[in-house]
Amino acid sequence: MKFTVAIDGPAAAGKGTISKAVAKHFGFVHLDTGLLYRAVGAKTLAGAEPLGAAHHLVPEDLLAENLRTPEVAQAASRVAVIAEVRSALVAFQKSFAERSGGAVLDGRDIGTVIAPDAEAKLFVTASAEVRAERRYLELSGKGMDVDRDTVLADVIARDARDRDRDTAPMVAADDAVVLDTSEMSIETAIAAAIAYIDEKRGKTA
Ligand code: CDP
Repeated sequence: MKFTVAIDGPAAAGKGTISKAVAKHFGFVHLDTGLLYRAVGAKTLAGAEPLGAAHHLVPEDLLAENLRTPEVAQAASRVAVIAEVRSALVAFQKSFAERSGGAVLDGRDIGTVIAPDAEAKLFVTASAEVRAERRYLELSGKGMDVDRDTVLADVIARDARDRDRDTAPMVAADDAVVLDTSEMSIETAIAAAIAYIDEKRGKTA
């Protein structure tokens, strides 16, 4: 049976961590859709043309090293405004969402465009300062040479580009539950997500 969990929200809100934990808890598969855009963005940094890169994406591209750098994140959000790039990536995401046995997808447009009929929809957010601090700790923890002000500026610029684009802008679906994690530990956020999904599972069972 299909059961789709859509998790959207701005940069570094904790979508990835929550999605992985939810998928593990329920035994669902997980797709980090940001990786698709990051892989296309990384190819453009290497000189490729965005639409060609999106059309020729192969699973191994998602395993490339360095997809988590700030430069690739910015390149991802630049290719993500191109409608043709987005449509090249839609079919794969939709079929993943429909997978029998349950699927969690995280991104920006999952609850609105990729899986508007998802059984559970969360919009995970936090203040820009909190998100930037989390991303700073993540990147510096990986040994990257980053500073707090630049990470905050990057997060703000990317959010604005994602929110203001014409095609599939980042917005909470009308039927999404908003989870503001500004003052929550990650454990509390995961527990809240699981409780909400449990409730939805009860209704669809
Ligand atoms: O991990 P973080 O939240 O910083 O970013 P991500 O989820 O890896 O996404 C990187 C970029 O890809 C975003 O800033 C968006 O521009 C784009 N993206 C998108 O447009 N639609 C999605 N469903 C997922 C990501």
